[in-house]
Amino acid sequence: MARKCIAIVLAAGQGKRMKSSLPKVLHRIGGLPIVHHIVDTLKKLRITKQVIVIGHQQALVRNALKEHAVDIIVQPRQLGTAHAVACAKGKFRGFSGNVLVIAGDVPLISVKTLREFMRAHHVLKSSATVLTTTIADPTGYGRIVRGRQNSVRKIVEELDADADEKGIREINSGIYLFDARILFSKLGRIKRNRKKKEFYLTDIVEACMRDKITVHAHHVDNADEVRGINSRKDLCELNTIMNRRILHRLQEAGVTVLSEENTFVEAHVKIGRDTILYPFTYIERDVTIGKGCSIGPFCKIRKGTRIKDRSMIGSFVEINRSMIDEHVTIKHLAYIGDAIIGKDVNIGAGTITANYDGRNKHRTVIKNKALIGANTVLVAPVTVGTAARTGAGSVVKAGQDIPAGRLAVGVPARIIK
Ligand code: UD1
Ligand code: MG
Repeated sequence: MARKCIAIVLAAGQGKRMKSSLPKVLHRIGGLPIVHHIVDTLKKLRITKQVIVIGHQQALVRNALKEHAVDIIVQPRQLGTAHAVACAKGKFRGFSGNVLVIAGDVPLISVKTLREFMRAHHVLKSSATVLTTTIADPTGYGRIVRGRQNSVRKIVEELDADADEKGIREINSGIYLFDARILFSKLGRIKRNRKKKEFYLTDIVEACMRDKITVHAHHVDNADEVRGINSRKDLCELNTIMNRRILHRLQEAGVTVLSEENTFVEAHVKIGRDTILYPFTYIERDVTIGKGCSIGPFCKIRKGTRIKDRSMIGSFVEINRSMIDEHVTIKHLAYIGDAIIGKDVNIGAGTITANYDGRNKHRTVIKNKALIGANTVLVAPVTVGTAARTGAGSVVKAGQDIPAGRLAVGVPARIIK
């Protein structure tokens, strides 16, 4: 039987190369903070608990993790990856299983790869295994210097690598499995790196070698999964990879995507079959869209929105936190925010729900079969009754409800008898 496993996620670093006032692990991939991807992936593995090491701007990171069932440990000063792991030692008293150490900036790692990695560690009866991959441009990553069979002799960081080592294209993913006792006994042997003045977790390989403990490598072929984020360029590239993954998942579920390069969909979006996404559409996280809809080109659907079957959302339309029922048509130039729209409603070009009064957001309700004339402004809170209509250019004032079947026209709008 596989041994118990606890994960340590290293998320205390500042991420200097990001040149940001936001901690690196809170930058977003697919609309979610980088660290959330890792925490969510680990939740799907058989892991006793997750310990997240935080430090730089710890209040912000702690707040971002408050809805996740994880243990938090603070690394008071960022003295390197080995020091970060050592800070978590207190969580492992009396624990004799495995420790999965994972850098907090590797958000694309999959559950499947981690499972295979854990299985390989188990099958090899390994005490220490490093997840590696081979990439075309290894600049910036720790290089894997191989020993006999599939063992690792050492990991050399970019700054310390000689010309030959720089030529190695097999790199350290920053993901490791250790026997807990061996990990914590060897950490103390690691010395500060002379150039960077940090304690490198990668130096544990040589500490193991000295005690004749073999460190194994588990190589993955899909290098994209283990790419780390250290710069804005990495952030952009990984967002592109994540976006493509999401679009492929949607295509497999029967959604038409006309251009993968120009369609952007964040994480946790659900879309029904035969819906078409036209180019230059941006769909934020947690949006649900039904079957047979037409979305875009040039539209933005923001988080919390739900659109039901056979609705058409056309060019230059923004929809925010709204519920759109079946067969609704909003074809051109509209802003719909905090609205509930019933079945078979037609929203004319240029319609605006003015949902914000400078202090609070208000709701707009448009009932079934209503027809909103071009350039209508609906100053929320407002209700448009079933099959009611507004004339082109009308401004419906806050609190003014249009009864079912009636027509409102003018500025401010009057109900026509
Ligand atoms: C690290 C590895 C490198 C590997 C790469 C993979 C070391 C010394 N190098 O380099 O071999 O190829 O990851 O992406 O480990 N962190 C802390 N506390 C610290 C320092 C860092 O928690 O004191 C966290 C960071 O927040 C980050 C992770 O550890 O999430 C890795 O640190 P980072 O500075 O990105 O290391 P790399 O230079 O990428
Ligand atoms: Mg990194």
